[in-house]
Amino acid sequence: MQFSITQGSITAIAADAIVVNLFEGVETPGGATAAVDAALNGAVRTLIASGDFEGKAGTTALLYTDGKLPAPRVLLVGLGKADKFDMQAARKAAATAHKALAKLKGVKHYATIVHGAGAGGLEVETAAQALAEGALLADYRVPNYKREAPEEGPSRCTVVEFDAGRVPAIERGLRRGEIIAAGVNLARDLSNEPPNILNPAAMAQRAQAMAEQAGLKCTILGEDAMRELGMNILLAVSRGSANEAQLVILEHAPAGLEEQPPLVLVGKGITFDTGGISIKPAERMEEMKHDMSGAAAVIGAMQAIAQLGVPRRVIGVAPCVENMPDGNAYRPGDILTGMTGKTAEILSTDAEGRLILADALAYVARYQPKAVVDLATLTGAIGVALGPQAAGLFSNDDALQDALMAASKRSGERLWPMPMWEEYKEAIKGDMAEVKNSGGRSSGVSTSAKFIEHFTEGYPWAHLDIASVAWTTSERDALTPKGATGYGVRLLVELAEAL
Ligand code: BES
Ligand code: MN
Ligand code: ZN
Repeated sequence: MQFSITQGSITAIAADAIVVNLFEGVETPGGATAAVDAALNGAVRTLIASGDFEGKAGTTALLYTDGKLPAPRVLLVGLGKADKFDMQAARKAAATAHKALAKLKGVKHYATIVHGAGAGGLEVETAAQALAEGALLADYRVPNYKREAPEEGPSRCTVVEFDAGRVPAIERGLRRGEIIAAGVNLARDLSNEPPNILNPAAMAQRAQAMAEQAGLKCTILGEDAMRELGMNILLAVSRGSANEAQLVILEHAPAGLEEQPPLVLVGKGITFDTGGISIKPAERMEEMKHDMSGAAAVIGAMQAIAQLGVPRRVIGVAPCVENMPDGNAYRPGDILTGMTGKTAEILSTDAEGRLILADALAYVARYQPKAVVDLATLTGAIGVALGPQAAGLFSNDDALQDALMAASKRSGERLWPMPMWEEYKEAIKGDMAEVKNSGGRSSGVSTSAKFIEHFTEGYPWAHLDIASVAWTTSERDALTPKGATGYGVRLLVELAEAL
């Protein structure tokens, strides 16, 4: 969908629909909504007085203008309670309006005011960013493998602003929102692709194509190169698969900052997780195509970071591996020596995410990072603990943890801190090796983070367990369609800008 911006009154715009808004509980609208109400001889006030539209978040009402305005339709979108309003509420309002209009066959072009920059109290640039993000995240459609093309939604959105002085800020905000939403939607596409198509090599190709477009440096290591480096723990996970593992490395280094200690983002990229020899039950196994959502978030975030020209060095690393059972597969009981020399005993081949991260996190020490953040769909248990409301945050560095919590607040992607107490280490002490890859059912989320910590020497590190939030089996809200959510892209962009 294309955005453009026009200075003037929304009542003068000829589009298939115009969008104005209302806070919950407001009986006499102001601003653009009042102007529309006046043009419609009080129809908006009548609607409110009827009780049929209360301005609640996530709701809309449609009015027909019958020649009283150039646009044939007016859509009112609820902003919710004024004292609860924030950037995330602005995103949701834009998404709700977009979805309501996308259902109407006759709406290809709509005009809208910026939600939340008036009484909502948001900076106008922030509000414009939220508008673009909301509409574009709601506009997302999964990759189409049906012979018939999917129905087209609105293709144009004109943002209308009365105050000429605000136009440049709106332009900047819209552009920012477009870039960020494109990153999120790229991550969703990668995660939603079927596992036969998006195998490790295909992921590497997609990352490389993105890097060429966005102006990132891209290096891809195959299994031979990883063997040279001694990444034998990662390679063991790949042994049962006919598809070669790939290590994707994306680098954003603005001119003059080539030597800056980078922020390093590492994403779990298991393109399909059968569990391996410790095979998973068949039920819902197809969801394990999303087990590369951490890597997808890193690739999407790197695209946005490059396009935004974030003034800091950032490196994204995606170990891409398929976990399959086979005569050649690794086994429970195996002892492996990876890049750091530390030995790991395998109790479950289904605890494979921490294994590929072990070598990927050992690899990134070479960059002498300022900080390393990994994202992984690591445990089913994080979903049991937090539900789809938040990802788990595990860190041994208070400053990095605080930076992540702040970025989470701004991005609207919730994180919740989880414990990393030393006692958890006991549960994963190996009998014959230094560490084992499962501590049993008790405290499964913290022991998984503790396992990874073993391989993070030399830099501040945080781990985000995103298994609770990376995909959803039914639409969650107007911003979050069924399937991959693209969680993490907005958060990582915020972190890169703030660090
Ligand atoms: N990819 C899974 C985690 C997962 C499971 C995410 C279900 C979302 C839904 C991971 O590789 C895994 O299998 N984890 C095991 C760990 C256990 C074997 C220690 C788990 O959570 O059961
Ligand atoms: Mn697994
Ligand atoms: Zn997995």
